[in-house]
Amino acid sequence: MVKVTLALAAFVAVVAASPRSKRTMHVHERRENVPSGYVKDGAAPSDHVLNLRLALVQSNFKSLEDKLYAVSTPGNAEYGQHLSKEQVEALVAPSSDTTSAVKDWLSSHDISSNTISPAGDWVGINVTVKQANTLLDADYSTFTHQSTDEQTIRTLSYSIPADLKSHLSLVHPTVAFPVKPFGSPKVVGKFSKKSNLTADAAPASCATSFTPTCAQQLYGIPSAPATQPSNRIAVAGFIDQWANLADLKSFLQTYRTDISPSTTFSTVLIDGGENDQSTPGIEANLDTQYTVGVATGVPNEFVSVGENNPDGIDGFLDIINELLGEDDVPNVLTTSYSFNEPDLPFSIANNLCNAYAQLGARGTSIFFSSGDGGVSGGQSQSCTTFVPTFPSTCPFITSVGGTTGIPETAVDFSSGGFSTLFAIPDYQSADVSAYLSKLGSTNAGLFNKTGRAFPDLAAFGVNVEIVFGGEFGTVDGTSCSTPITASLFALLNDELIAAGKSPLGFLNPFIYANQGAFTDITSGDNPGCSTDGFSAGTGWDPVTGVGSPIYSVLRTAAGL
Ligand SMILES: *[C@@H]1O[C@H](CO)[C@@H](O)[C@H](O)[C@H]1NC(C)=O
Ligand SMILES: *[C@@H]1O[C@H](CO)[C@@H](O)[C@H](O)[C@H]1NC(C)=O
Ligand SMILES: *[C@@H]1O[C@H](CO)[C@@H](O)[C@H](O)[C@H]1NC(C)=O
Repeated sequence: MVKVTLALAAFVAVVAASPRSKRTMHVHERRENVPSGYVKDGAAPSDHVLNLRLALVQSNFKSLEDKLYAVSTPGNAEYGQHLSKEQVEALVAPSSDTTSAVKDWLSSHDISSNTISPAGDWVGINVTVKQANTLLDADYSTFTHQSTDEQTIRTLSYSIPADLKSHLSLVHPTVAFPVKPFGSPKVVGKFSKKSNLTADAAPASCATSFTPTCAQQLYGIPSAPATQPSNRIAVAGFIDQWANLADLKSFLQTYRTDISPSTTFSTVLIDGGENDQSTPGIEANLDTQYTVGVATGVPNEFVSVGENNPDGIDGFLDIINELLGEDDVPNVLTTSYSFNEPDLPFSIANNLCNAYAQLGARGTSIFFSSGDGGVSGGQSQSCTTFVPTFPSTCPFITSVGGTTGIPETAVDFSSGGFSTLFAIPDYQSADVSAYLSKLGSTNAGLFNKTGRAFPDLAAFGVNVEIVFGGEFGTVDGTSCSTPITASLFALLNDELIAAGKSPLGFLNPFIYANQGAFTDITSGDNPGCSTDGFSAGTGWDPVTGVGSPIYSVLRTAAGL
């Protein structure tokens, strides 16, 4: 309560103290209060230099979205005809009017800018706090995070000239405070020097010890190596989690004795990312072990995104812009990290979601874990309304929930629900309406019936065997389900490319059109916020989506 009052007082002071500039200024974004965990210290030093980035309005995002659906919807005349780098950039580049309107405004303040994204929709400027306060009618202040003592400079509100509203979508850093993604599976079994399992035969019980062989058996995933060198699976790494090569080797020596133990991944470093082999990351190890270990023979790339990320969303946008800058994008990108949607301003979430649409149009299948807090968000927490997770709520990515047991049921931590930012896309609207009519008034008022619903599908997510720091043990989480699912689709892409066909690209229209290619998960629920959450049932549900994949049926559905 005290915090809220302080924040409101600060905001009122900003408005009162703002100098009026000659051009009519309109408040572009503002937040009502300081996010929980932060306290405001006072004005930021006026000569401190801010590296600001401005997102220009994309000229033709609607056409890009139409193209994305055309190339991703089975039966469409353009199905599989993914766009080139140049084609995507032409659709999202800002118009010359937009670029000059923004540049003229900056020059009128003697500020020069440079282009910082492949399509030219982001520009960067370096200005002092004093200049930024004048340019944006802002009140840049220093805030301290109470538990980490980390200081950050932000403003609770900023304005732009009224006539630039249709040209400028957002400025960062302004009102978006640093957010850390959730990741990291939960450790279940005690880690020990020796594996409890022998060779790579399936364990006596895959339900209690899940290995790559279990994934192959459960979903019919082939063990024969992929053949296409142009096919690539990328694994995203964040929060200083590094994938360990020695651990991967002992994982393969134990669980994939049929392939070379030196099978490995390449590493790409962005935003000051590292590849420190002395400190393995549990999430990074899980993700690389279950992509190298399941997507047999598919070229594998670990993208380590560092903490020097200026994009306002912990490097999540930087990695996408990095990939969009390449002529050949990976066919699959898997990420087992997520945010709670309410922690993000719509402007930043929407800009990133649009970047996923661009990568999807290029032909990448993008997977995100749905989260491990049931209906309470990325991690279990107390809540009064359900907390959806992002990027799962972005309609342009594929969200993966979790299952347990054989035969599979929904696992109780599997996050799922409905966006409060993004509207429901056509590809799922009939299935979601069918679910909502069965649901009736259960959970009414706790979620947004018109939002994009997630997850889209699910896979096994408990008692998953990994190697970490030279020891063997098991972990739980949708962090496990995601690389397993991504690997299955990477192998389908290999077969498609070998047959001279296009890779699958953005998957959701294909998934909802081919529900017979999934094992419907019909029991279990995802409790949270002092409720039982949602229940899995016949058809799509916000716990396990359309169900878990069946390789052989997906093969046929993909035209193989
Ligand atoms: C802003 O500063 C960064 C280094 O911090 C530099 O790379 C960039 O080119 C500068 N941008 C402009 C527009 O001067
Ligand atoms: C529900 O989702 C829609 C997007 O479909 C959004 O515009 C609306 O603000 C959301 N409502 C609530 C109460 O979150
Ligand atoms: C392996 O067995 C040991 C000893 O019985 C046990 O402590 C450990 O939790 C087991 N590890 C796994 C991954 O099951």
